[in-house]
Amino acid sequence: MGKIIIEGREKETADGESIIPACEELGVTFGCQDGICGTCIVEVQEGMEALSERNQAEADMGLEPNQRLACQCRMKTGTVKLKY
Ligand code: FES
Repeated sequence: MGKIIIEGREKETADGESIIPACEELGVTFGCQDGICGTCIVEVQEGMEALSERNQAEADMGLEPNQRLACQCRMKTGTVKLKY
């Protein structure tokens, strides 16, 4: 089990699952959910290692090292603190 924290609010996410539902409940807005639009870019403040590795869509987006596309991330296990 993992946990997503945004601005002090938290939601649990099962290991291996997309973090989209938890992030949506915590206020992240999603567009394409396919790694194309960039609407869901989040800053990882803590816990990058608890998320799945970057995929090609994220590499193509040219993100900063601490940024991820929330729609492309799956929970490994652990606690992830995000800023949106
Ligand atoms: S929702 Fe479009 S890139 Fe994530």
